[in-house]
Amino acid sequence: MCGIFAYLNYLTPKSRQEVLDLLVTGLKRLEYRGYDSTGVAIDSLDNKDIVMVKRTGKVKVLEDAIKEHFSGGEYSEPVLTHMGIAHTRWATHGVPCERNSHPQRSDEGNSFVVVHNGIITNYNDVKTFLSKKGYEFESETDTEVFAKLVHHLWKKHPNYSFRELVEQAIQQVEGAFAIAVKSKHFPGECVASRRSSPLLVGIKTKTRLATDHIPILYGKDVDSSKASELRPHGQTRELPVLPRSDSTSEFMPEQKEVEYFFASDASAVIEHTNRVIYLEDDDVAAVRNGILSIHRLKKSLDDPHAREITTLKMEIQQIMKGNYEYFMQKEIFEQPDSVVNTMRGRVRFDGQSIVLGGIKDYIPEIKRCRRLMLIGCGTSYHSAVATRQLLEELTELPVMVELASDFLDRNTPIFRDDVCFFISQSGETADTLMALRYCKQRGALIVGITNTVGSSICRESHCGVHINAGPEIGVASTKAYTSQFISLVMFALVMSEDRLSLQQRRLEILQGLSKLAEQIREVLKLDNKVRELAKDLYQHKSLLIMGRGYNFATCLEGALKVKELTYMHSEGIMAGELKHGPLALVDDSMPVLMIVLRDPVYVKCMNALQQVTSRKGCPIIICEEGDEETKTFSSRHLEIPRTVDCLQGILTVIPMQLLSYHIAVLRGCDVDCPRNLAKSVTVE
Ligand code: G6P
Repeated sequence: MCGIFAYLNYLTPKSRQEVLDLLVTGLKRLEYRGYDSTGVAIDSLDNKDIVMVKRTGKVKVLEDAIKEHFSGGEYSEPVLTHMGIAHTRWATHGVPCERNSHPQRSDEGNSFVVVHNGIITNYNDVKTFLSKKGYEFESETDTEVFAKLVHHLWKKHPNYSFRELVEQAIQQVEGAFAIAVKSKHFPGECVASRRSSPLLVGIKTKTRLATDHIPILYGKDVDSSKASELRPHGQTRELPVLPRSDSTSEFMPEQKEVEYFFASDASAVIEHTNRVIYLEDDDVAAVRNGILSIHRLKKSLDDPHAREITTLKMEIQQIMKGNYEYFMQKEIFEQPDSVVNTMRGRVRFDGQSIVLGGIKDYIPEIKRCRRLMLIGCGTSYHSAVATRQLLEELTELPVMVELASDFLDRNTPIFRDDVCFFISQSGETADTLMALRYCKQRGALIVGITNTVGSSICRESHCGVHINAGPEIGVASTKAYTSQFISLVMFALVMSEDRLSLQQRRLEILQGLSKLAEQIREVLKLDNKVRELAKDLYQHKSLLIMGRGYNFATCLEGALKVKELTYMHSEGIMAGELKHGPLALVDDSMPVLMIVLRDPVYVKCMNALQQVTSRKGCPIIICEEGDEETKTFSSRHLEIPRTVDCLQGILTVIPMQLLSYHIAVLRGCDVDCPRNLAKSVTVE
């Protein structure tokens, strides 16, 4: 949901062209977060002004515009210290166009320019306030008010530092945001902050830093009622002057040569450095004279004294496409390895034991709970649907599966003895995070299931499981789904460890897990066959995907993949519901795909298959290897290896991922960046 990238080189000579290359590469890494318009801001040649280039469309369009704009030899002259900011946008306020692209500016003179991710919910109030001060707005964005607010504060408090100005401004805005600000009045400085939207700072030095911690500087106590004077419906009283935080005490030890990278996520900095600080909500990070400091206006009792510099475990190859055409394709084919990584160090196949280190201390408490709730959005929600039946079976607890947005809309009752799982690849999805906070406030135990170490959901959970699928860059989630699925299966196995009556069942599931990587490899060999099927389908308008039991989630997930990637209509249909409506859609021209496996619902699925074929439907069938009887119902089938019923969904979803991928390629769609979507949806 928008990507922020800022780069500051202190006493590390770089030409403007090199800086721009760095900014553009950073944006390319973040492009999956949003890609309808882009922009950069750097210093002008005389260092007295800020030059911005903004474009509608993807980063490539901006890259070409930059080449044209900064072609002169003077742009290749090295500059000792410089700061540039960049942004790739997923529009929320205002259509995608240059005017609404970021950076947004404070005035015609570009005094302050801002890149922003998230939504400033009280922007109308701030806008009214600033309009009365004479500010004229040129975009439809909420972001512009922030740039102008900082400018207003600067005029009022000319002796304030850059950091203090931003610090005062963030007290006046509500909503979710990550921001990075550049100013021509404070050259070589950068100020950034976040609230409910991720932001990290990468640090690159020639010699290792003398410390692994950046001390946090706290302000004096603030009367919080003052800070909200702007908030009530459109009131435009004078802005309160908030206390200034202490800026003279500890700082990070001085660095001679240092580079800083501010980014929405780690994939944009890993090629430069693996040393990062994840900022927390309301941290204000400022670089001045090459020194990074982190400030907070208020200190509460449990606030730490410092932010830790962490070392990223990510490898650069993980965020490169390698020999694949698209990230999504690479991620589909990584699944034999990613599922093993999810189980690594957790499942002992010989001893038949499972340890989930992140939740093991909470298992006794979880076993005493009243019910389990699984909450997520999109694909993550489907992983909950996929594993619900097994969780019910092995935990013998009621299991509720909820879409985060609907869960919040309903003000769902939550109790202290509920255990709530929040499933999210990114760990930043706003709806899921809001639902987490809602449940936490009501005293439930919060378990995070995420793929992103250091994400908001990780940090705000009481305990959790990292799915360890590795970075997922294609907007359509694939390997994260199968790893979420396995994480929940492992949890079910942990919960049933001491149940004698379930030992046989556990054993067959463990055996199934041990063969999974090999079986996924087998399924991936269907790729060519799936491509041929895609040729039959890609010109159609719709695809119905039917199944039930353990494979219903595959139908929902398969249909979501088709919609996301190909812009075709697709619907995942519970086969038991066929006769209650969807059968009316079936005729000899409607594309149908049915999952019919030899599991407890086989006979019911066969009934559905017959209902379809007797209406002249000619479905593509996903069936088990060697199931000659089922194959007689259609000439088009995909055979997958046999596994235990509750793991089938992992094998049946892979042909669906491949099918949507190939249809998208045939339709000429942008596989990794589907229109109108973004990978990490940090707005509600
Ligand atoms: C977006 C993405 C989906 C994803 C969903 C939930 O809509 O396009 O692919 O499944 O968000 O994301 P999360 O990071 O919470 O799993």
